[in-house]
Amino acid sequence: MGSPDSPRDGAERLHKVMAHAGVASRRACEALIAAGRVSVNGATARAGDRALPSDLVEVDGAVVTWDQSLVHYLVNKPPAVLSASSDDRGRRCVTDLVPAGERVYPVGRLDADTEGLIIVTNDGELTHRLTHPRWGVEKEYLAHVDGVPGRGALARLRNGVELDDGMTAPARVSMPQSAVPQRSSRQSSMLRIEISEGRNRQVRRMCEAVGHPVLRLVRMRIGPLVDPSLRPGECRPLTAEEVRGLHRAAKGPDA
Ligand code: URA
Repeated sequence: MGSPDSPRDGAERLHKVMAHAGVASRRACEALIAAGRVSVNGATARAGDRALPSDLVEVDGAVVTWDQSLVHYLVNKPPAVLSASSDDRGRRCVTDLVPAGERVYPVGRLDADTEGLIIVTNDGELTHRLTHPRWGVEKEYLAHVDGVPGRGALARLRNGVELDDGMTAPARVSMPQSAVPQRSSRQSSMLRIEISEGRNRQVRRMCEAVGHPVLRLVRMRIGPLVDPSLRPGECRPLTAEEVRGLHRAAKGPDA
């Protein structure tokens, strides 16, 4: 007599599922399981375990994505391209810079005149995590600003600036040594600014508030994601490891 259908019918071997999702080779996935680095629905997995698509599989706390229809691109947005998936005035959008196929959208936004890295995807869960203030993923900008900020202006940028929508959170701000201008030369400078908030035009408003308006703004990093070789207007797919890194970065203490 056949046994009644179990709710776990159709479950697949965990290491196969992980390999299929691009985590690593099957053998390497078995090693990850044996090392106790994999969990299924919050419980540490063991060799021979199986998983269903409804299960939450995590490696080192980062979610393993089953859905093979998800696409993730890293785009280096040039100026004058919109962080949008369409524009009723026919202007170029970041989604025009990725291969046609899935319906995709940008994660968060850069101002039209801001350049640099932006993610374009159809992954709603990752988008939610990367844009939700609760998870506060850090982003790094290079800001070419008017004038030469003194210690007081730098301290204000670091400690918090009063903007019309409230005080900004502490930020990391430095002047890359190679870019520190002579005070006697043309009065502009380069600042590296790392913030975890995502308020509208935040970096521009912060710099303006301390008397050093932004002349040019480039986003260099999103959480762990950098790519100095990606030229303006270019895009590339994120690797599975990069997607996991973003999930990890977006995991706040109470996530
Ligand atoms: N801060 C800004 O001011 N503009 C951007 O596009 C991103 C961050």
